[in-house]
Parts: sequence; C-alpha cells; structure tokens
Amino acid sequence: RIRSIVRGVGSYLPQRVLTNDELAKTVDTSDEWIQQRVGIKERHIAAEGEFTSDLAVAAARAALDNAGLTPDDIDLIIVATTTPDYTFPAAATLVQMKLGMRHGFAFDLQAVCSGFVYAVTTADSHIKNGLARRVLVIGAETFTRLLDWTDRTTCVLFGDGAGAMILEGVELAEDEPERGILASALRSDGQHWDKLYVDGGPSSTGTAGHVHMQGPEVFRHAVGKITDVVYATLEKSGYTVADLDWFVPHQANKRIIDGAGAKLGLPTEKVVTTVDIHANTSAASVPLALSVAVADGRIKPGDLVMLEAMGGGFTWGASLIRW
Ligand code: ACO
Repeated sequence: RIRSIVRGVGSYLPQRVLTNDELAKTVDTSDEWIQQRVGIKERHIAAEGEFTSDLAVAAARAALDNAGLTPDDIDLIIVATTTPDYTFPAAATLVQMKLGMRHGFAFDLQAVCSGFVYAVTTADSHIKNGLARRVLVIGAETFTRLLDWTDRTTCVLFGDGAGAMILEGVELAEDEPERGILASALRSDGQHWDKLYVDGGPSSTGTAGHVHMQGPEVFRHAVGKITDVVYATLEKSGYTVADLDWFVPHQANKRIIDGAGAKLGLPTEKVVTTVDIHANTSAASVPLALSVAVADGRIKPGDLVMLEAMGGGFTWGASLIRW
C-alpha cells in the first residue's frame, strides 16, 4: 500500500497589509459592512514586481525547511493558480527554475479557489501511480491583480498569498494503520461558469480581465456543495464528522464557513479560520490556513484533517488526511 503522507507545510504572505479602513477611503464601503458580511478585516497585497511564482517559491522554501528537505528531493511541482506570471509557461516551471531544479517535472493546475484541493488529489494520484515520489504542491495567487478596485462588490473580498505542502509516497506495512491522504472527492459543474468569472483571457479578449461575481448566487450554492463533498469524502474513508479533529475550509467568507460548519454539526473550535486576516486568496487559502494551524500547534501528527474548497466553475472538492 503506497500512501501519500504530509512531510511539511509552509506559507508566504506579501508584506503590505491593506485594512478595510484604508479600502473605505477609495471605494464606498466600510469596515463594519465588510466584517459583518464576510468576516474580513485585512488582506495582504503583493508588491509591484512581485509575481505569483515569487510568492510560490517563498512558500515552497518554507515547506522544504519544515520538512527538512531540499529541492533535490522533489520530483514533481504542481502549482494551483488562477494568476500565473505569464499566459505560458506554467508558473510551476518558473518555480522549478527559481528553486534551481533541473530534474523532475512541473505543471500548473487551474480550478480557481478549489485549485489546492484539486492539486493535492492530483499529487496523490501521481504518487500512487508511481509517476512521482515527493510532490511539492503549491497554491499561489496574486489574485488582487484581477480586481476592479472601483467595484465594491468584489474588491473587498480578495487578497494575495501562497501556501505549500510536500507529499511523500511511503509504503505502509500490512499491519500499519492508514495515514496520509485517506480519501478525496472532486466535483465541477460548468453550467455555473458565469456566476463567478474573469471577463478576460488569451482566447477571448486578449486582456487579463476583472472578476465578476453574482455574490448571492455563489452564497446560495456554497454551503450545500461543500457539505455534499465532505460527506462523499467521509463515506469513502469510513469516517464520520465526529471523527474529525480539524476542518480546514477554503477561506472565502466567514458566513459560508460558519454555515458549512453548522450544517455538518462541527464545533466551531475544530474549524480553522483565517479569512479575517488573509481574505480570499483563492488557491492559496487552504494551505495558508493549514500552515497557520500547524505552526500554532493545533494540527498535530495523528490528527484527522478535512480540507475543503469551492470556487469558480463551479468547482468543489474535499480531501481527508491523517496527519
Ligand atoms: N460595501 C458596502 N456595501 C456593499 C458592498 C461593500 N463592499 N458590496 C455590496 N454592497 C451593497 C450592494 O450594493 C447592495 O446595495 P443595494 O441594496 O443598495 O443595491 C447591498 O450591499 C446588498 O448587496 P448584496 O449583493 O445583495 O449583498 P449580500 O448580502 O448578498 O452580500 C456578499 C454580498 C457578501 C458578496 C454575499 O453575497 C456573499 O458572501 N456571497 C458569497 C460570495 C463569496 O464569498 N465569494 C467569494 C468567492 S467564491 C468562493 O471562493 C467560494
């Protein structure tokens, strides 16, 4: 039995912090409105000239340090991102270059806010199929570059950042209990594409475009889709909600997180929430939240951890990990 175990995690946030009060000076909003509706207080913004691959490399180095590994030990890099430096090549190959890696392979994965969960699941398949042994899985975004800063319905919601996880294939002995990634479930439904999308791209407008969102529609779908995929993952693994030590959801919105937690019947102290200080960093949000909870000692070896995300497409997914 080959299983993908977590060797380390790490993250990086750009230095610049933009508070709600600062935002309220340039757009018609308020700290009170933003905190009440989505639970965000502040977000980090990448500096001019700081690209997604730079954020990704900083998070990757932190994860490698955490794991006690070097780039030589990695044979696959997957970068989940919606905001690559260039239309091509993949940000992952730039990360590979910046880490000084000349071996292995690297590619990007695009599932917007669900990107990290999709990438973890893809890494797990590659490990189990013998295509890779140690995978550097990164969620990295300079998402604020897609914002129209005059649109108060979207510009208050997002931030920049990166998080990384190193997965390693280990052969478990017959009598060894299951660990690592126990089960995952992925879903998408492209019928909902225009409820949350960016109105640009190489094949349509030739521009990068801006985020457009039917907020109440996204909200309406979020809680049900999240809980469905969490239950599907639990069912595959034979565990129940009561067995979970930690729930690490995509950090889009405190009300969606609370709604999903309540519907699942999870005590709030088991839910990791960082949306207040990171805002929605798309594919980076889950590994950023994970890194916080590992660094502060909440998530410990042996814990049962459920990752979950939902985003544009719609895409959604969950992954259950014995840490
Ligand atoms: N500041 C002040 N007022 C605002 C702001 C703002 N930043 N944004 C919108 N408003 C106003 C609207 O203009 C509207 O005013 P009006 O009634 O005069 O027209 C009023 O607030 C209510 O607007 P709604 O869109 O109906 O507000 P709602 O209560 O639905 O809240 C929100 C909007 C917070 C976006 C909500 O729909 C939501 O949380 N949706 C989920 C979206 C989300 O989380 N997206 C993240 C990306 S998706 C993902 O990652 C899962």
